[in-house]
Amino acid sequence: MKILLIGASSYLGARLYFDLKNNHQIIGTYFKTKLSDNFAQLDTTNEEDIKETISSVNPEVIIHAANYSNVRSCEKDLQMTKLVNEKATEIIVNHSKKINCQLIYISTYGVKDISEKYSNIYTLSKLKSETIIKNSLRNYLILQPRLIIGMSPNILNDRFSNRLLNNINEKKGGEYDTSWRFQPTYIGHISEVLELVISKKINQQTIPIMTKEIKSKFELAKDIFSSFGIEPIPIDQHNQLPLVADDLSTLKRLNLPIYSYQEIIEKLIKEYKNANYFQSGL
Ligand SMILES: NC(=O)c1ccc[n+]([C@@H]2O[C@H](COP(=O)([O-])OP(=O)(O)OC[C@H]3O[C@@H](n4cnc5c(N)ncnc54)[C@H](OP(=O)(O)O)[C@@H]3O)[C@@H](O)[C@H]2O)c1
Repeated sequence: MKILLIGASSYLGARLYFDLKNNHQIIGTYFKTKLSDNFAQLDTTNEEDIKETISSVNPEVIIHAANYSNVRSCEKDLQMTKLVNEKATEIIVNHSKKINCQLIYISTYGVKDISEKYSNIYTLSKLKSETIIKNSLRNYLILQPRLIIGMSPNILNDRFSNRLLNNINEKKGGEYDTSWRFQPTYIGHISEVLELVISKKINQQTIPIMTKEIKSKFELAKDIFSSFGIEPIPIDQHNQLPLVADDLSTLKRLNLPIYSYQEIIEKLIKEYKNANYFQSGL
């Protein structure tokens, strides 16, 4: 398959590029972080840039993983959030329609947290993008990970997983929250689901990807660090989010892989022990 991966320089995008590149002709884009000489520059706030990239690559599948994805930055810069998270999706949708390719949008399971009592600019912008896609396209898929953990060739971004890696390298456990409880997502699980949905030509689905078990950041850190002889420090950040859990019925219905928490912990420990493996070959 010829795939255009928008946001290959992100924490998630870099791992997707790494995992998919052997089986597909994949063209990755970056905006400011040129992780690889193979990546092409694309500013998703620039319509001409998007139009030119999509028409010249002419992909069969576009994976859209570029976003203003930090909750705090979104609260601070509403205009940029609108441009990068909503307007860009609209433009990508319009141009993917023209070449009749499939659009796979990386959303977040956080959209399920939105209620009368709770919302934030980031998740609202993701929900808006989901709505734009569902209302405009027939050839689409939406993936909804929760907090993503696992190695990526991008170890620069301020992501939970990269923080774990830094603690492992420095041999000292940092502080991890005990209050927010969620179903973690293993980064390699997203790549596997992508391989399968692309090859099975699955369409018009919204797919939550995560383990069944509900954990906190502290529990995750503790279970991973136990293999590296370090201990995380528990802190209570008083996260008030109500627990919204997924029953994994979409993964089951579509015959896609499901991993238990124990299985992902084993995979994660192996990945953190071989962290250098992900630093080559982008
Ligand atoms: N990380 C998680 O736990 C998590 C959980 C659920 C869903 N997601 C979703 O997964 C996707 C990737 O998240 P992430 O955490 O891996 O992201 P990230 O590391 O914060 O990276 C953000 C990406 O967006 C790109 N970007 C920002 N502004 C851009 C612009 N104007 N034009 C083009 N690209 C631009 C960045 O490019 P440069 O760096 O090159 O500037 C980078 O590739 C996002 O859609 C996010 O909502 C992530």
